[in-house]
Amino acid sequence: MTLTFQNIKKQFAEIATIHAHSFEHAWSETVLKDMFCNPQYSGTLVLQNNQVIGFIICTTVLDEAEIISIAISTEQRGKAFAAQLLNYEVKRLQNLSIKKLHLEVNQSNIAAIKLYQTTGFSQIAVRKNYYKLASGNRTNALIFSLNI
Ligand SMILES: CC(C)(COP(=O)(O)OP(=O)(O)OC[C@H]1O[C@@H](n2cnc3c(N)ncnc32)[C@H](O)[C@@H]1OP(=O)(O)O)[C@@H](O)C(=O)NCCC(=O)NCCS
Repeated sequence: MTLTFQNIKKQFAEIATIHAHSFEHAWSETVLKDMFCNPQYSGTLVLQNNQVIGFIICTTVLDEAEIISIAISTEQRGKAFAAQLLNYEVKRLQNLSIKKLHLEVNQSNIAAIKLYQTTGFSQIAVRKNYYKLASGNRTNALIFSLNI
C-alpha cells in the first residue's frame, strides 16, 4: 500500500464524490472547479495506489490559512490517513510562508476534533449556534488554531 500526496489541480469529480459522502451539504464538481479558479484556494489529495481517498482544501490570505474542508473516503477512515494528510498540508503551507492555520468544526464532530488535537491545534473560541442542522436545531462551532 503506497500513500502519495498531490496538489489539487483537477480530479474534482473524485473530490465531489468523497465530499458528498462526508458532509450534509455536498459540493458539486462545478462548485469545486469554480472554487479553484480563485487563487486563494489550494489543497492536497491523498491517493492510495493511485486512487484518490481523501482531500484537504485551504484558503490563504497573506500569512494565514484556513482549512475549508478535509475528508477521507468512508471505507478508508480510522487508518491515520487524515493525520498524515494534515501533516503534509502543514508542511506545504509552511513552504508558502504561512504562519497560522485556523479551522472551525462542529462541536459534535468527535473524529475531526480528535484529529485536530492530535495534530497540535488548540481551541481558541466557540461560535454559539453557528451550524444549522437538517433537523432545524443549531449547534456550536469550535474554532481551532495552529502556529506553523
Ligand atoms: C475527520 C476525518 C477526516 C478523520 O479521518 P481519519 O483518516 O479517519 O482520521 P485518522 O485515522 O487520521 O485519525 C486521527 C485521529 O482521530 C481519531 N479518530 C478518528 N476517527 C475517530 C472517531 N470516529 N472517533 C474518535 N476518534 C477518532 C484517531 O484515533 C486519531 O487519533 P490518535 O492519533 O490520537 O489515535 C474523517 O472522519 C472524515 O472524513 N469525516 C467526514 C468529514 C469531516 O467531518 N471532516 C472534518 C470537517 S471539520
